[in-house]
Order: sequence, then C-alpha cells, then structure tokens
Amino acid sequence: MSHVNQHISQLREDFMKGELSETNLNKTPDVQFEQWMQDAIDAKVNEVAACNLATVDKNNKPSARIIYLREFSDNEFYFYTNYDSRKAAEIANNPNVCLTFFWPELERQVRIEGVISKKAEAEKSDAYFNARPQDSKIGAWSSPQSKVLKGREELNSYIENNKAKYKDQEIPRPDFWGGYIITANYYEFWQGRKNRLHDRIAFTAEGGNWKIERLAP
Ligand SMILES: Cc1cc2nc3c(=O)[nH]c(=O)nc-3n(C[C@H](O)[C@H](O)[C@H](O)COP(=O)(O)O)c2cc1C
Repeated sequence: MSHVNQHISQLREDFMKGELSETNLNKTPDVQFEQWMQDAIDAKVNEVAACNLATVDKNNKPSARIIYLREFSDNEFYFYTNYDSRKAAEIANNPNVCLTFFWPELERQVRIEGVISKKAEAEKSDAYFNARPQDSKIGAWSSPQSKVLKGREELNSYIENNKAKYKDQEIPRPDFWGGYIITANYYEFWQGRKNRLHDRIAFTAEGGNWKIERLAP
C-alpha cells in the first residue's frame, strides 16, 4: 500500500462539536441555512461560501465542481459563471442541481437540491460584475470557460487583446457571463457526532410547506 493510501485509510476523525435536534432547529430551512452560514462566518471557516455544484448531462452522467454562492434569500441561491461553460450546457439540458457545503471547523455539511428555472436578473449580474476587480472582468471576457485551449499562451493572447481593447474604458459585462438562481426544494443539515452517529435533518418542499424528517446517519 502506498504511503498516501496508508495515510488516508487510517484517518479517523471523531466529530464532537455540536448537536442538531428538532428543538434547536429553525422550522424554515433558509433561515436555518442563514444561521449556519452566520456560525461558519463567525467561526472564520475558510472559503465559507465555496460549495460543490452538481449537474447532470444529457446522458444522465453527473459532474461536479466548486463554485461560490454569492447571495441567497427566500429559498433562492445565486451563483455567477459563464453561460457557455460545461455546467451551463448541463443546466440547459437538466435544470436539477445540487449544492453541497462542508464547513469542517464546525463539523457541518449542508445539501441543497433545487431547480434552475431562470438566470439572475440582468441588473443583478451587472451589479456583481461591476463590483469585480478590473483583472477579473478581463478574465471573464478572456476565458472561453470549459473549452480546450492549445496552451496557456492562447489564454494569454485573449487576455492581452482584451486588455488592449478595454484600456482606459469601463468594461461591460459579457452577455455570456452572469448569474443563475437555484430554487431550493430540499435541504439537509448534517452535524457530525461521535462514533459516526451523526445528526441529519432533511426538509422537503411539499405543497407550500416543508416536511421535516430525521435521517439515519
Ligand atoms: C473555491 C473555488 C471557487 C470557484 N468559484 C467559481 C464560481 O463562482 N463560478 C465559476 O464559474 N467557477 C468557479 N470556480 C471554478 C469551477 O470549479 C470550475 O472549474 C469552472 O466553473 C468550470 O466548470 P465547468 O467546466 O464544469 O463549467 C471555483 C473554483 C474554486 C476552487
């Protein structure tokens, strides 16, 4: 067995930091999510807004990547990306997606499942784009996200062209770049516990209400 395999096969983490019970749970899942996000911010969790976004392609093959959650309210979750990327093609084909957060400092995981039925409002995408540093704006224009490049030089040449094109100018948001809105229909809050006997509480949208259930760990 390689050293790496030996190492990872012997990792044993016991989770002891908290409990999640039906009594300390907020009955509205996006409020519960906000509380946990606030806890994670207070605990200075590294990359607190980074989460895994899972999508499915036209052959039902899943794929996943990390993105940044940029806003949420009323069960709507916003992230920003390239509308010509692989994830965008998969979302166009199948709007069902899943977000997963892992906040190790708190021994917490949150799963959010939902549907992307719309892109973010143009004004929101503009506002978010305009707040980005100049180099990130150039980056958005210059990266044909998910496409094969001949090499790093190809990307560099796009960057140099865009830097020259937008020299001393306001950089507008590309129409191939902006936000998506996930409307959540399922949440699962996971709190690590001793001996792998974790707490898991799921919220499922049902006819305008949320059904709350405890799941076996
Ligand atoms: C911490 C972190 C945050 C990221 N945030 C974003 C993001 O908000 N939007 C985005 O398009 N890509 C983001 N990425 C890059 C994606 O993981 C991915 O490489 C890219 O979106 C292309 O994915 P796709 O080919 O599946 O479309 C992030 C990566 C990391 C590691």
